[in-house]
Amino acid sequence: MEKIGRLNGKVALITGATSGLGRAVAERFVAEGAQVCIADKSQERLKEMQTHLGEAIITVHADVSTLEGNLKMVEATIEKFGRVDIFIGNAGIYDGNIGINDLSLNRIEAAFDEVMNVNVKGYLLGAKVVLQELLKTEGCMIFTASHASFYSAGGGPIYTASKHAIAGLIKELAYELAPKIRVNGVAPGVIATAMGMPNSLGSEAPSIISGVEQALPLPFIPESKDYADLYVLLASEGSKAMTGTIIQADNGISIRGLVRTSGGL
Ligand SMILES: NC(=O)c1ccc[n+]([C@@H]2O[C@H](COP(=O)([O-])OP(=O)(O)OC[C@H]3O[C@@H](n4cnc5c(N)ncnc54)[C@H](O)[C@@H]3O)[C@@H](O)[C@H]2O)c1
Repeated sequence: MEKIGRLNGKVALITGATSGLGRAVAERFVAEGAQVCIADKSQERLKEMQTHLGEAIITVHADVSTLEGNLKMVEATIEKFGRVDIFIGNAGIYDGNIGINDLSLNRIEAAFDEVMNVNVKGYLLGAKVVLQELLKTEGCMIFTASHASFYSAGGGPIYTASKHAIAGLIKELAYELAPKIRVNGVAPGVIATAMGMPNSLGSEAPSIISGVEQALPLPFIPESKDYADLYVLLASEGSKAMTGTIIQADNGISIRGLVRTSGGL
């Protein structure tokens, strides 16, 4: 019997989808009936995803910070599925929450280049190489932004600058590509994942989330899967009046004030 899902018959290309948020979005898209190309730099986890999700997906080993990697993932998607309806730029790395005072002179340039190359150039190149295919299907782009796309203290200056750049990219592309292609974003606050780090700043990202839930109006740390429905919404008819929008799914961080009123819940 045919599986009825909100993304039946759609083809999605998702970057950074072997772990964390991207993986959860890929799983949800398959459950909703989509065929998915997963592009990632981890060969080992790509293999595991292929076994996990089977024929509904293909996997492509690609570094999104390179033009070559982006071309490869689009070519593979067209070769296998013949079309692309949804492009999700999601692959990202963190700056370890290192503040400007602690960024040493001998690594600041390399760290900036590495983070910007993945977080910003990766999205731009992905959008560029998938554009002609999305024009054919009048599809959409969705980018993973962040609370750090709007506010301070979600990372250090490099990560925050990279995520602010994504907010600009979403708005510019949404304006340029209307009315044929909708471009939107999802801005999570915190996620229970350990993000990767640039080589120049070491391999281990320190956890910034332990204990932060007490400061959140909705006081829990969401799992990656808690955000997946937002991507389904932005990829489907239900959001057809939305472009240039970034959904802030941040447990209410952005509406936090100084003190609670009396008689609160
Ligand atoms: N973790 C958080 O608290 C949080 C909060 C807000 C936004 N985000 C954003 O969510 C997105 C996903 O992050 P996550 O938390 O799931 O982290 P993650 O490290 O679990 O997932 C990132 C994925 O991107 C892949 N990747 C990294 N560099 C790549 C490259 N050059 N080429 C191809 N693939 C590459 C990794 O292999 C990994 O599979 C990122 O854009 C991040 O900025 C994360």
